[in-house]
Amino acid sequence: MGDTRLAIRKVAFKHALAVTASATAAALLVEGVSKSFRRETGESVLALDNISFAVGHGALAALVGPDGAGKTSLLRLLAGLIKAERGRLSVLGIDAARDPQAIQSRIAYMPQRFGLYEDLTVRENLDLYADLHAVTADARRTQYTRLMDMTGLGSFKQRLSGKLSGGMKQKLGLACTLIGSPELLLLDEPTVGVDPLSRSELWEIIRQLVKDGLTVLLSTSYLDEAEACEWVLVLNEGRKLAEGPPAHVSELAHGRTFLAEPPAGTKARDFQARLLIDPDIIDAVPESGLVRVVTQLHADQSALRTFAGATARPTPARFEDGFMVLLHQAKGADTAHANPPEAEVPVSGRDNGAPVVEVRDLERRFGDFVAVDHVTFSVKRGEIFGLLGPNGAGKTTTFRMLCGLLPPSGGTLTVAGVDVRRDRASARQHLGYVAQMFSLYGQLTVGENLDFFARAYGLGGNQKRDRIAWALSQFNLEPFVNLPSAHLPGGFKQRLAMAAALLHRPEILFLDEPTSGADPFARREFWRRITALAAEGVTVIVTTHFMAEAEYCDRAAILDSGKVLAQGTPAELRGHASQKAGRMATMEDAFIAIVLKARGEPALKSALAAR
Ligand SMILES: Nc1ncnc2c1ncn2[C@@H]1O[C@H](COP(=O)(O)OP(=O)(O)OP(=O)(O)O)[C@@H](O)[C@H]1O
Ligand SMILES: [Mg+2]
Repeated sequence: MGDTRLAIRKVAFKHALAVTASATAAALLVEGVSKSFRRETGESVLALDNISFAVGHGALAALVGPDGAGKTSLLRLLAGLIKAERGRLSVLGIDAARDPQAIQSRIAYMPQRFGLYEDLTVRENLDLYADLHAVTADARRTQYTRLMDMTGLGSFKQRLSGKLSGGMKQKLGLACTLIGSPELLLLDEPTVGVDPLSRSELWEIIRQLVKDGLTVLLSTSYLDEAEACEWVLVLNEGRKLAEGPPAHVSELAHGRTFLAEPPAGTKARDFQARLLIDPDIIDAVPESGLVRVVTQLHADQSALRTFAGATARPTPARFEDGFMVLLHQAKGADTAHANPPEAEVPVSGRDNGAPVVEVRDLERRFGDFVAVDHVTFSVKRGEIFGLLGPNGAGKTTTFRMLCGLLPPSGGTLTVAGVDVRRDRASARQHLGYVAQMFSLYGQLTVGENLDFFARAYGLGGNQKRDRIAWALSQFNLEPFVNLPSAHLPGGFKQRLAMAAALLHRPEILFLDEPTSGADPFARREFWRRITALAAEGVTVIVTTHFMAEAEYCDRAAILDSGKVLAQGTPAELRGHASQKAGRMATMEDAFIAIVLKARGEPALKSALAAR
């Protein structure tokens, strides 16, 4: 790693010189910028409304806000890819309206869906970007080593990028973006789908680049990442809600943040659902076996220290708490208290305690490569089971085998009592699958997508009509029924994917990173649905790279390189991590500890979560 660091420094030193030479007051200067788009339905949407801010040279800055806040539009304006209707943007001292090409030759922009060539190998993709930026053979050698080290893709150079796992693709995209030594980085959600370990490694690199003079502006839905930046811009529906150091936002929740202990025998997630009914509570999420609560400002604070009969103790506010307060003020009172999902009883038969999903010694090879290596677990009816693990661990491959989409190389698989290897078709009747980077038809409208999936599940006539009507109303998709699904705001795409998977009332749901890229509100809403479904008896197997979400699971397994490293309840898994000074161990601590121990690597000095 020492050599790599040195190489980074050298490259970054060049940046620093370039930056000083072209020094102006700010690296990014935005004054009174507005931008609207016309939807295909003819409706005009104001994506950015009179936005002004400045980011200094060498800053590490974050852009946060719910889906549809205008984050991507702002980044595209700064990259000179689209033009503002009103206002002025200057990037590295260059006017974006006058000379977008000059900007593009000095910055790097990584879009949300980075365009990798799936039929080229990892190495060929890098070569392509190096050619585009006319990088010399010498520079390639040092840059490639640095980038492969940073992304952990070194041993996969010859793999076709179409065959990488979701997170590996994201990391390769970032590597390609960094080729060509830009002076300014604009990154649109660079860590979506990236596992907790790689995320802290990527952050380590970003910090190093910034330390050496590069300016970085990134959008993120990980609020701990925003908290790690020196400057944050919070947007909502095109408007600026706050700007400045993240501590200014955390401050908004000061004195309003508590940790409440669920009554004995009550699951944290059920207690959370109960707390969310209280109109004085803005936000509640499970955390290390307790429930973290953010309250409305209240004259009599002490009265609020018991919630639903449980005792609660104050805890220091973090950025996420302040963010929820800010958004609550902007959106009105209905945010946390959106109607709870309606009880839906899709499950026939009652619980007899037998496992609904049983996986034994499951194995999958691709040539010599073992992607899933003797995996064993079982899940009971109504349980939420988490399948966690770093990028490339074999989670998606396991899901694909469970759904009968990929034949296993060995082992046994039963789903709802049906042997998946022997009778795929009848196993599929029992399950719903939401694929990673899900597979909706972008050109089809919301209504057409539902119709398509209903037919695929064999629904017809009145039954089909009723289930589509149910899906539209349950997931609040009615206003969008005629909108092509590609134009849905992010959170709504997720809802549609989930609605489609539930049309045939499956008793088992497989969810592969359903919350990746979703904003904090959409994620909370999503988990309320999942917990309600589980309470009705639906069995859920889910994967996520948001370790805080693993707290919603009854049990979870942690996989790496195709092997199960640990499994148990969140409390049992947390037991693998040592207590950090002044706070309880989190699932993220446990995940990192378990994976590093199995890999024989030393503990991380500065995991992002271990602020
Ligand atoms: N068709 C294939 N041919 C060759 N290798 C494959 C193929 N499909 C998957 N792999 C490899 O199997 C491993 C596991 O991939 P998988 O997609 O299951 O990981 P994952 O745990 O879902 O990761 P992520 O969190 O990034 O989504 C990876 O190394 C991947 O490159
Ligand atoms: Mg995956």
